[in-house]
Amino acid sequence: MSANMQIDTQQRKRIDELFENGILSAEDFRALIDGRDESTSSYLAEKARIRQKENFGNTVYLRGLIEFTNYCRNDCIYCGIRRSNRNCERYRLTEADILDCCEKGYALDFRTFVLQGGEDMAYSDEDISRIVRSIKTKYPDCAVTLSIGERSKETYQKWFDAGADRYLLRHETADPDLYAQLHPKELTLANRIRCLYDLKAIGYQVGAGMMLQAPFQRTEHIVKDLFFLRELQPEMIGIGPFIPHQDTPFRDREAGTAELTIFMIGILRLMFPDALIPATTALGTIDPTGREQGILAGANVVMPNLSPTGVRDKYLLYDGKICTGDEAAECRSCMESRIMLTGYQVAVSRGDSPRFLHDILQES
Ligand code: SAM
Ligand code: FES
Repeated sequence: MSANMQIDTQQRKRIDELFENGILSAEDFRALIDGRDESTSSYLAEKARIRQKENFGNTVYLRGLIEFTNYCRNDCIYCGIRRSNRNCERYRLTEADILDCCEKGYALDFRTFVLQGGEDMAYSDEDISRIVRSIKTKYPDCAVTLSIGERSKETYQKWFDAGADRYLLRHETADPDLYAQLHPKELTLANRIRCLYDLKAIGYQVGAGMMLQAPFQRTEHIVKDLFFLRELQPEMIGIGPFIPHQDTPFRDREAGTAELTIFMIGILRLMFPDALIPATTALGTIDPTGREQGILAGANVVMPNLSPTGVRDKYLLYDGKICTGDEAAECRSCMESRIMLTGYQVAVSRGDSPRFLHDILQES
């Protein structure tokens, strides 16, 4: 008997409704998530693949991730590079190092470079602008994504004017109390949200998202995240399991599962048919085939690492991170073969959000 035949009638109804309308009531979301089982997951993934194919065919986009600094002024409780982790060996890449990563990445068909790091104030606004400008001048056919945390609107504007196209800033959780349990008191959900709306207003393609199964998180919190995302309407949504890091106060907490992340990818694909949804490294860390399963449940982006091998094992947000010893070319070809096994194909393209391209066409 196929998994679909065994699915609970109520669960099937909820998934069909989500497929048709892109939304459920909070109560139905909660019931869908809490009542999930193998047959529900496989039916959800089947429906999610329909939306994925309608919007993206069998294409998966590649982003080249450059983790250019692990210095951070923040002290997020879950994070392995938090400022109070004295065991973290810190590094910074120079502009020349970053351009070197881009050169390697371009030759490997990457057309988006994601510059990610802690909130490292040693790079001035002008330093980041100069780095973005250099990349855009050398590779005008590439997109630059920044993921360097919370800043003022003026700073975001400067980087946008320098040519940055996209910005990733997970909201982490849309519940202010849970946010406060995961972060030191100087960090607030309100400021995180302010940043996301500033980024949108400036014209970035914006990525938000949450960590799943973080300590203290309950299903109600995840449902709140879904409604927050519906309001924000980000172009990109990154989610992944919480994984403990040995040098943080959450060292003894249980890690999240690939299973829930994969299920939530399916829900997000039905809510946001044209969103860019990555199958993240954390998902590949918690399960060796997590990223492939993520793609088969609706994800359409992968982000192989382009950082120099010498620093890879220093950007450790959580324990057991995969691919820390591999060269960029190895990561690229490993990802390509994994994607091909799922029946999808890697695209040599910037991979912009279809909604974003539509808006640009309307404006011109
Ligand atoms: N500083 C930037 C920021 O705050 O957005 C980018 C770097 S931050 C380390 C990138 C993401 O890593 C965070 O948004 C968080 O969701 C994720 N992360 C950090 N620690 C993690 C952990 N222990 N398990 C899973 N994900 C984690
Ligand atoms: Fe700043 Fe994690 S605490 S990147």
